[in-house]
Amino acid sequence: MTVIVGSLCLLALMSILYSTLRTSVPPMPSSGRSRRALLDCLSDTVPEAPAVTLVDLGSGWGSLVIAMARRFPRHRVEGYELSWLPWMVSRLLKAVLRLDNLTLHRGDFLKADLRHARVLVCYLNPTQMARLCERFDASAGWAGTLFSVGFAMPGARAERTVRVNELYNTPIYQYRLGHG
Ligand SMILES: C[S@@+](CC[C@H](N)C(=O)[O-])C[C@H]1O[C@@H](n2cnc3c(N)ncnc32)[C@H](O)[C@@H]1O
Repeated sequence: MTVIVGSLCLLALMSILYSTLRTSVPPMPSSGRSRRALLDCLSDTVPEAPAVTLVDLGSGWGSLVIAMARRFPRHRVEGYELSWLPWMVSRLLKAVLRLDNLTLHRGDFLKADLRHARVLVCYLNPTQMARLCERFDASAGWAGTLFSVGFAMPGARAERTVRVNELYNTPIYQYRLGHG
């Protein structure tokens, strides 16, 4: 029994390590304060109606995307995550909390069709932000608002920057892309 549990834990650890090496971003959740500040920013931006789609690019264990689905029950919320263990945990939480407005995709957001999304949020790193920039350059028709926790988009000017009231005063950058 101990061997089975140990092997499963090792497998889980290896899988997290593998996706971290692949994406260069560990599945570390954003802090509670960053999440609350981001939700407040979203409340300023997301209209009451009509329903729009909000997407968390790299939804990890689901803490942010679940908070979004609960804050905006009338809107559609989606998450994309490559790492299977965090993704499975977030799927479980979605089922337990019965969040019908939430869809969790296991896949690469850089390859996903995001044309239906009006608001994107992310908490990544400078490498992934650069890739995201290239992705938006390639899909020039996309219009919407992007919020990034902690990391700026290289070469783009933020419409607004909010500082989170915590030790590192983490910035939350808001970008308007296309005609959003
Ligand atoms: C720092 S975590 C943030 C989790 C969550 N958004 C939050 O704020 O709590 C970033 C996540 O993005 C995922 N990720 C990075 N690049 C990705 C990609 N191209 N496609 C899908 N997921 C990706 C990583 O696996 C990681 O779980």
